[in-house]
Amino acid sequence: MDRYAVIGHPVAHSKSPLIHQAFARATGQHMSYELLPAPLDGFLATAQRFAAEGGRGLNVTVPFKLEAYAMAKERSARAEEAQACNTLAWRDDHWYGDNTDGVGLMRDLTHNLHETLAGRDVLVLGAGGAARGILGPLLAKMPRSVVLVNRTEPRAAELAASFAEHGPVAAMSSAQLNGRRFHVVINATSIGINGDVPENLWPEHPFAVGGLAYDLVYADVPTPFLRWASQRSAERTADGLGMLIEQAAESFVLWRGVRPETSPVFAMLRPQA
Ligand code: ATR
Repeated sequence: MDRYAVIGHPVAHSKSPLIHQAFARATGQHMSYELLPAPLDGFLATAQRFAAEGGRGLNVTVPFKLEAYAMAKERSARAEEAQACNTLAWRDDHWYGDNTDGVGLMRDLTHNLHETLAGRDVLVLGAGGAARGILGPLLAKMPRSVVLVNRTEPRAAELAASFAEHGPVAAMSSAQLNGRRFHVVINATSIGINGDVPENLWPEHPFAVGGLAYDLVYADVPTPFLRWASQRSAERTADGLGMLIEQAAESFVLWRGVRPETSPVFAMLRPQA
């Protein structure tokens, strides 16, 4: 049986095994998918051991996506763009590295949430690894503009400059936004599930009519960012569960050459939706 796993630290609460096991059942793929915890200083050794034991592929989560990128001897264009890997496939004698986070998010936005991105104005909060990972696929959807707002402004400027040839992306402070409104506002900071929203940093009223607030993280209750967005008349909100499921589907396609249906997995993980 072909073996796959999610490697991370911590990894115990990952939903990836549930998702991939459901995909495997639904598509009739003979494979296993397990949790692969690695010590903070032991990513490489753990991944290599898994390959030596016959492992065929890995999903990579916090904090190892950069190390996975460095380890991969061969990489997809989207992994190069993101400079991080969330998916690895063992090929003969080396790891092939891919990044399915950005395309997973785009699929959730366009396919599941029916969001039109072409011609739209998009605000991305944050300029770290998560923001870098989504910019290429986002700009490929031909938005009218993508604005980056980040606590450390030079970091946003640098990120915008490195994607300038992919489309209209600019770094701004909230003050520079001057009342601009956005159809989609994406939280790509690491404030997460328990952090505080940096009120003074983010624009007062960023949402255009019908605007969507999207958080890259997911939780069983609305995240701090989504609560903030609801108070600022975001008409629609979504957390990152859809992105998680869709990035998993993209990894599954890479490994198995079959695209699984994602809606049954949504129903399984969030029955009330
Ligand atoms: P990740 O890989 O999760 O993106 P990262 O590369 O460390 O992690 O980036 C974290 C992002 O969240 C950055 O944009 C960071 O802002 P800075 O560049 O100013 O550090 C942002 N961030 C983290 N904590 C924050 C907070 N309390 N308020 C505002 N932004 C925050």
